[in-house]
Parts: sequence; C-alpha cells; structure tokens
Amino acid sequence: MLTSPAQIAFTNGNWATPTDPSHCLASLHVQPFSLKHNLAANPLFSIPCLIETAQAAAKRNGDAYIDAGKVAITDKWGAIPTPDLPIEQVMQRLETSGAWIIMKHVEKDPRYKAVLDEFTAFAKDLVGPAKARDFRNPEMLIIVTSPGRMTSYHFDAEINFLVQVHGTKRVWICDPNDRDITTSREIERYYGETESAGDFKAVAEERAMQFLLEPGDAVHIPSHGAHWVQNGDEVSVSLSLNFEFPDWKYKDPFAANHLLRSLGFNPKPPSVNPVANIPKIALVRSVRTAKALGRPVKKLARSAFKGSRA
Ligand SMILES: [Fe+2]
Repeated sequence: MLTSPAQIAFTNGNWATPTDPSHCLASLHVQPFSLKHNLAANPLFSIPCLIETAQAAAKRNGDAYIDAGKVAITDKWGAIPTPDLPIEQVMQRLETSGAWIIMKHVEKDPRYKAVLDEFTAFAKDLVGPAKARDFRNPEMLIIVTSPGRMTSYHFDAEINFLVQVHGTKRVWICDPNDRDITTSREIERYYGETESAGDFKAVAEERAMQFLLEPGDAVHIPSHGAHWVQNGDEVSVSLSLNFEFPDWKYKDPFAANHLLRSLGFNPKPPSVNPVANIPKIALVRSVRTAKALGRPVKKLARSAFKGSRA
C-alpha cells in the first residue's frame, strides 16, 4: 500500500515506484521490478462487481477463459478441464473450485478503461518517450483464482505488469535473455506455431527471481521471461496490464525463422539491428498475404530465401 511517503520515488494517481525511477528504466524488458498501487479498495475489483464483469466477458467471443483442477508446473495452456458451469457459478464457488478465470479486454467497459488509461500514462511517464513508443495496444485482463491454485510455467510476448489487488501470490520470474531457459527455438515456435512453446527446465527454478505479491504490489514481467505463479490461501484478484511491441521487433523475424527452419534453412537469430531483419519481415508478411489469398506458401518462401545468408 502507498502508506509511507518515503517508499514513493515516482507517483501518478494510483501508481508509484518503490525505487528510483532510473532502476525501472534500466530494468524494463531486462529484469523484473516492483511497483505499488492503491487499487485494493476500488469496488470495481470486488467479487460481486467481478461476477458482472465476468458475465459481460463471457458474452464477448474469446474474452473469457475458465479452467478448474489440479495443475503441475509443466502443464501446458488448455491442459486443465473447463468446468461445465456458467461463469457466474464458477465465480461463486471460488473458495473450493480450484478455478482460474481470465477476463480479457475488460477495458471495453469505460470504468476499467479509466484505470488502464491512468496506468498507461504512469508507465509512459516512468520510462520516457523513447521507450514508451514500444507500448502499443494497452489491454487489461482480470485474473481471478482459487486458493492454492498454480499457474504453470510459460512465457508471453507482451510487456506485462502483474498487479495484485486481493489475496497473495508468489511469482517466479526468469531472465528473458537467458537462452538456457527461454531458448531461441522456443521463441520461434511461440511466434510461428503455439503460445505453449516454453518447456519447464530445472535450471529455471535455480535461477528465477521470486516475488511475494500482496495487495498493493505489482511487478514487471519482461517479454519472453519465463514465469509461473502459486496462489496463497485466499481467493486472488490480479490484473495483467499489457502492452505489445510492434510486430517488426520480435513477432515477424522469429516467425520467419520458424518458417525457414521448417523449409530446411538454418536461419541466424534475428538481429538486434531492425534493418538487418527487413528481408525476414518482408518474407513473413508475404507468406501471410499468400495464405490469405489461398496461394502456395512453401514455393514462395523457398524462392525468396534460396541462397540467402539470413
Ligand atoms: Fe504470463
């Protein structure tokens, strides 16, 4: 909670940093860092209000996800059964159901959009205009989970801020650039094939940073940083406040590498120099257009990259 002025180094509305902002700026996309907020008393995040929010999300195609059951750290997305109950009944049985409920794009409701807009302004001010240019397509997800529930090992593409509003959870977060943990091939598969591309490895447990999140805490989870979560003994309400990088940065060059590898090429990892990735980006965009038009894709890709050293 934002109770001690001495804790606050940079603040805007409901948001603050507990450390010097320069630490956050240096850590963005590289390692986790903590933030603080004042949302725990906001009635928008009470369970009665969230039951209505969940019902609204369930009416929008693809904006509600529910599963319930025991989870292992190695389980993949979609491996846990979906309960055969309306979402409001799952919400009413959270104490005992072992449930995990995700409400996506809640910012479609202007009351939540106001919360997201305030955070976006805070985050952009915190990192400055150059880095803020990468903060595309802000989204708010609300994650409601039963006591003791685990979220298994995975990594995401988004620039993520995990915000704890009610209950506690422990989160383990790995270095996004540790290729022993998140390998280049896994990132290629993530963008080219499946979002469940990250496989748990024992080294991740040895090297992960651990955070205990209580109401009022938040943590930055860098893109491609593998992570997993263990809920405490109470129902948890968390927010995932996300931004997306422009596609040319990671999505297109890694998806192109995945495609090229499937065709027998041995592509180099995407360059940190975006200009060097232009041929790969052009390739993957041409392939998407060809697919949309129902044209053969493999011949196009092979001829585009025959003899290439990309
Ligand atoms: Fe995640």
